[in-house]
Amino acid sequence: MRHKHSDYMHWSKTLSRARFNLATSGVAHFPLRELPVNLEEFEINGDNSYGYAPLQEAIAAHHGVDPDCVVESAGTSMANHLAMAAIIEPGDEVLIEHPAYGPILDVAEYLQANVKRFRRVEENGWAVDPDEVRRSVTSETRLIIITNLHNPTSVLTPETVLRKIGDIARSIGALVLVDEVYLDAVYEDTPRTSYHLGPEFVVTSSLTKVYGVSGLRCGWVLAHPDVAWKMRRLNDLYSATPVYPGELLSVAAFNHLDLLRERARRIVEADRKLLRDFLRQQSRLCAVEANWGTTSFPRLLSGNTDAFLERLRAEFDTSAVPGRFFEMPDHFRIGMGVNTEMFAEGLKRLSRALG
Ligand SMILES: Cc1ncc(COP(=O)(O)O)c(C=O)c1O
Repeated sequence: MRHKHSDYMHWSKTLSRARFNLATSGVAHFPLRELPVNLEEFEINGDNSYGYAPLQEAIAAHHGVDPDCVVESAGTSMANHLAMAAIIEPGDEVLIEHPAYGPILDVAEYLQANVKRFRRVEENGWAVDPDEVRRSVTSETRLIIITNLHNPTSVLTPETVLRKIGDIARSIGALVLVDEVYLDAVYEDTPRTSYHLGPEFVVTSSLTKVYGVSGLRCGWVLAHPDVAWKMRRLNDLYSATPVYPGELLSVAAFNHLDLLRERARRIVEADRKLLRDFLRQQSRLCAVEANWGTTSFPRLLSGNTDAFLERLRAEFDTSAVPGRFFEMPDHFRIGMGVNTEMFAEGLKRLSRALG
């Protein structure tokens, strides 16, 4: 029986919420009333057969690429699915980072890929180690998959390392898929997309996590125009055309991207400061600190993490994501950027639960 579900997604939709919700990964919702846009100019239907040209241009301009490289998608979820489905044939070897964002593995398994892993280890600051990738690829590897920033740890993979991964991929005729949905949460000197690093790079992203407009489902793939066209044709089988009013609002969001980003940034940075102080005081937790991103992935040094999180939720009305969804059951993920008051109280409760 083919793999046809995501345990993480189901948990996230049904069980992740609590009054003090530290189980988030994206920032606070950006209110429509604060987006300078005239809704009277909006329409329900319009010309968007293979994407809405102004939106494709806005995405292309954001990344400094040609619009021919841009494939619109419903969030990064569909972007990852489209990218993998266009590249992978059943039985193809796919090398995925470990720990990984569950749905990426789920899609690879659904597509009947032969999934292999390379490790990012805590002792090495969760860094992508090109030697480990080199040891893990074979002549059969078709695709290497990385998240940058890394979900769950928010660790940034620098361009020098990505170039090495690109070289490894090129030497065996493979491609590199980089999920960059969190990359713009590096607020100072935001790295450019790895799509610029060479033709073996395919990139996925969206406005869902860092900009507070997840409801728009504005996502995209950046790929070489030939591969991009294959993805658009494949998307005819999935969602045919995008939601036109969503595309109009997405263009409006792109026109005011700095406004969206700065609003979220203030909250993320305030939360990060609280989290840093909190982690430094906790003797039962250890965590690799990152200077960016919306998530952190501490390890509980003693006790059962699942049981601890259940108690945290039942007794303290506070939630965090169990590390088992990232194949690291001793860890859990904390999300920043929604509401600093809620975050501060969530940390206080976490502290009380830790005893
Ligand atoms: C690494 C990663 N990729 C993709 C997604 C899905 O994002 P979207 O809401 O844009 O579909 C998530 C969501 O948490 C994620 O963490």
